[in-house]
Amino acid sequence: MKVPFIDLTPQHEGIMEEIHQAIDQVFEENSFILGPAVAQFEKAAAKLLSVPHAIGVNSGTDALLLSLKALGISPGDEVIVPTFTFVAVADVVARVGARPVFVDVDPLNYNLAIDSVNHAITPKTKAIIAPHMFGQACDLSNLMQLANAHGLFLIEDVSQAMGGRISNKHLGAMGVTGCFSFYPTKNLGGVGDGGLVVTHNDEVAERIRRYRDHGRNGDGVFQEIGYNSRLDSIQAAILRIKLEELDETIADRVENARFYNELLGEADIEVPEFFERGEHTYNLYTIQCENRDGLRQFLADREIGTAVYYDRPLHLQPCFSYLGYKEGDFPVAELLASRVLSLPIYPGLKKKQIEEVAISIHEFLALQAVEE
Ligand SMILES: Cc1ncc(COP(=O)(O)O)c(C=O)c1O
Repeated sequence: MKVPFIDLTPQHEGIMEEIHQAIDQVFEENSFILGPAVAQFEKAAAKLLSVPHAIGVNSGTDALLLSLKALGISPGDEVIVPTFTFVAVADVVARVGARPVFVDVDPLNYNLAIDSVNHAITPKTKAIIAPHMFGQACDLSNLMQLANAHGLFLIEDVSQAMGGRISNKHLGAMGVTGCFSFYPTKNLGGVGDGGLVVTHNDEVAERIRRYRDHGRNGDGVFQEIGYNSRLDSIQAAILRIKLEELDETIADRVENARFYNELLGEADIEVPEFFERGEHTYNLYTIQCENRDGLRQFLADREIGTAVYYDRPLHLQPCFSYLGYKEGDFPVAELLASRVLSLPIYPGLKKKQIEEVAISIHEFLALQAVEE
């Protein structure tokens, strides 16, 4: 049985008619950039996340970049970021002229390790970017305490965890900004690039609105040098429809994770901790296996798709070599890079397919045990 790593078809099957109608509406309005569809989506997202401001932008990357710009992060400043995450989290820091300061992550939940963050704070530190990795909430209460004690901005990167909550508060609504990506495979996926920044801060919201549109203010005056980072209307119209499905698709991910854990709990691998709906949205279901590459090949031979996020931590990527980090600096991230494997978890994945993946993993591990 073929099991693709990702299949977006089941997510769209039941809503294609609505999507076509929404696209037709955008054509009728003849407003393709920042039109009514964007305003309506922003309103719906703000309501869902219980925040006063939600600003659509062209990607999760720009959500982070514009947050840094709006907070005034600039050359001479340091921003703490995990080394085990997607490159955008750190490259935006470099792009505003500040220095990314890498820290290690927790070996089980892949999120920022609080001790490492604490050690990395210097008088130049201005902000911490906290991605909720693979869909699981960071230790926000300790991070916020640390940020408050040192007068730092805490930026939540919710690219992988939209719809996640801690004690009924939505992820993204607790930091000074919350940054979301609508890359098609995310919890809320567009049909192209898209992103969102949310905030409680009126001034920060105003600045982000300007930065996304060339620095233009409400009077049409270009107040500062900005970007072209607008969410387009067709994306927004489709996202608004998919937003209504978000809870249901996350419930599906959670159920898939529960079933994997049930089938794999006894195996000689690390599986993610299981949470009922809330702290983990299982955007990715990532296991750890000593012979990761062997397992990946074994599964590929059975037409089971997997992915590796991430096979090289950021401090060892050539684009950051100018920062002077070396192998051995972040042992947890370096070990994880050789062990992690993400299994198919998408909404609409069938129970039979999950069983097929789990049985194959057990077979691989049994073969390994015999060889040893
Ligand atoms: C943690 C994290 N941050 C930021 C991004 C960037 O989002 P985008 O691809 O929409 O620019 C991603 C996307 O993969 C991500 O996973």
